[in-house]
Amino acid sequence: MKTVFVTGGAGFIGSALVRLLIAESDWTLVNIDKLTYAGNLESLGAVQDEPRHVFSRCDICEREALDRLFAEHRPAGVIHLAAESHVDRSIHGPAEFIQTNIVGTYTLLEATRAYWLGLPDSGKASFRFHHVSTDEVYGSLNETGLFLETTPYSPNSPYSASKASSDHLVRAWMHTYGLPSVVTNCSNNYGPYQFPEKLIPLMITNALAGKPLPIYGKGDNVRDWLYVDDHVRALKLVFERGVPGETYNIGGHNEKTNLEVVDALCTLLDRMRPRAGGRVYAELKITVADRPGHDRRYAIDAGKIGRELGWTPRESFETGLAKTVAWYLAHPEWVAHVVSGEYRHWVEKNYSHRAAQ
Ligand code: NAD
Ligand code: DAU
Repeated sequence: MKTVFVTGGAGFIGSALVRLLIAESDWTLVNIDKLTYAGNLESLGAVQDEPRHVFSRCDICEREALDRLFAEHRPAGVIHLAAESHVDRSIHGPAEFIQTNIVGTYTLLEATRAYWLGLPDSGKASFRFHHVSTDEVYGSLNETGLFLETTPYSPNSPYSASKASSDHLVRAWMHTYGLPSVVTNCSNNYGPYQFPEKLIPLMITNALAGKPLPIYGKGDNVRDWLYVDDHVRALKLVFERGVPGETYNIGGHNEKTNLEVVDALCTLLDRMRPRAGGRVYAELKITVADRPGHDRRYAIDAGKIGRELGWTPRESFETGLAKTVAWYLAHPEWVAHVVSGEYRHWVEKNYSHRAAQ
């Protein structure tokens, strides 16, 4: 029975991690989240009455608030997911990315270090700071090759540069101060509860609303897709068994062009929710201006986490995508609340008794 901090636990991956850890551990989770536009407590409905889930509305840039949380809950470790996560937003407004991803990670590291220094030797040794990062720090691949843990960093967008900076800070806090840390770098996630700004949920929600499906450039950029539940199982494994100072790449061996992804979604929707009048969803595809600096291809070599920790993904792209479409079809109210902004009021209605400012 231990207490673990999860930052960003109201986001897409963080909420999946919280649901998994409540189901598959006996830990108490302190979920530290600022509730930006991407934070949605409705995604945590399944654990809202669970006493082992303690939600705290807190900005990771606020040192005093973090110090209070450490003093109150005395965690055995931190799994850090809180971040600004959307590449297009980082291109249009990088400031929040610098603030949360770099300054926020620095502030969290310093609050963690101050708390960690006060632990007895055994607590110091077993403590873990797990930083959840992205494969985008490695830059862009051409037609061949895979990202390894040893691939040099070469971030290209404000988002990936801010994540690369945070990875380097974590490395430095381990090397200089001895804070026992692990870093994971994962490929593109998809699955239930993903905010409909990212490719897959945007295409599903637009298609269901009869809106255009905007494909950047020629649609031939490649991403390596991983079902979110496979990612969070990997996070639990690395947090528990990863070696301090090591980094682990996580990916699904599911390389697809964006056009292949959109076509697969259209085919699934044609079968699961046929359009009226014999029309097909693919008619909604349009090409739009390319993303500035658009990375060509990402592909992960996940051999290390497989060999050393025994992790393999359970879902293929086909099974994971079918599950995802089925989830969005079965949860129109979650999508409607996101689109209308209703989800922003959910915290007052459902969490006011527990949410700490
Ligand atoms: P998300 O945007 O869905 O969620 C981010 C969460 O962080 C939100 O709940 C938000 O409210 C919270 N947050 C933002 N700023 C904060 C702050 N200053 N203080 C406290 N909380 C704050 O993101 P996601 O897709 O779930 O990604 C989670 C993490 O995983 C990120 O660090 C991201 O870089 C990384 N990652 C994401 C993917 C992916 O495909 N989505 C892949 C690899 C790695
Ligand atoms: O690789 C991991 C990263 O994957 C994570 O670190 C990021 O947090 C996450 O957002 C994701 O970044 P991408 O930029 O790859 O994901 P996104 O869903 O925004 O775009 C996927 C691809 O689809 C990319 O090549 C751009 C393209 N795209 C995206 C959108 C939103 C389109 O063609 N049309 C769109 O409308």
